Amino acid sequence: MMKILSTREMLKKAQREGYAVPAFNIHNLETLEVVVETAAELKSPVILAGTPSTIAYAGGEFIVAMAEAAAEKYNIPIAIHLDHYEVVDEIKHFVDLGFKSTMIDASHETFEKNIEIVKEVVEYAHKYDATVEAELGRLGGQEDDLIVDEKDTKYTNPKQAKEYVEKTGIDSLAVAIGTAHGLYMGEAKLDLDRLKEIRDMVDVPLVLHGASDVPDELVKKAISLGICKVNVATDLKIPFSDAVKKYFTENPDANDPRKYMAPGKEAMKKVVAHKIIICGSNGKA
Ligand code: 13P
Repeated sequence: MMKILSTREMLKKAQREGYAVPAFNIHNLETLEVVVETAAELKSPVILAGTPSTIAYAGGEFIVAMAEAAAEKYNIPIAIHLDHYEVVDEIKHFVDLGFKSTMIDASHETFEKNIEIVKEVVEYAHKYDATVEAELGRLGGQEDDLIVDEKDTKYTNPKQAKEYVEKTGIDSLAVAIGTAHGLYMGEAKLDLDRLKEIRDMVDVPLVLHGASDVPDELVKKAISLGICKVNVATDLKIPFSDAVKKYFTENPDANDPRKYMAPGKEAMKKVVAHKIIICGSNGKA
């Protein structure tokens, strides 16, 4: 029987073997079910990510309980991950509750302050065998309540990244190399040379945020250059919602959630499966 895991072994294995573990943002029972069911069918390890507003909406206890039930039902490595948390005390609370993986996002702070905040989280999380991801540089776009204007985005500096990893003791590093949360105006462009430089300077697994709406070939290329965790939210939300909207258009009197949620789940499932294949994590559970 599998338990809720940290991302430590999951990401190290991905790093050794040259694939990425997908981190899917989930929101409720339905989206969590789709993700774990599909990952189990494809024998993929999987990370269930929740932003602060998702955890506030669904309830941390409920997410933990649902993920535990999933881990008991399916024999694949499952982690639940706090995505873009900024408040240290909230992270501590959820680590106490059973989350074994967290991101502390202090990317809006100065370099020194960012290190100080992240270090505190690392010290706490490691006592409980939980893993910590942090971001250096800053992604643009919108992720739930987190909105970063394009002028405030900053690419990760490879030399600083090395110092950052050493001083904070983080388990994985989120890089800013041109992706943004949400959809892109035009084509997504990634600074792959920068990614290579970062990979040469640091040894922890690297994380790609904002992977929705990025061409598959580009995501694969980033994985071949050292990305070990790929975060996807928007590309799941859109097909889920579109399918539910279509169902209501065709069945305006519908009122049974078990019926109107089903097409949303089905549409989302196809995307989850596709992303797992792009990550190359199928068969790696
Ligand atoms: P997207 O919504 O662009 O897929 O971003 C997801 C993400 O990076 C979660 O942290």
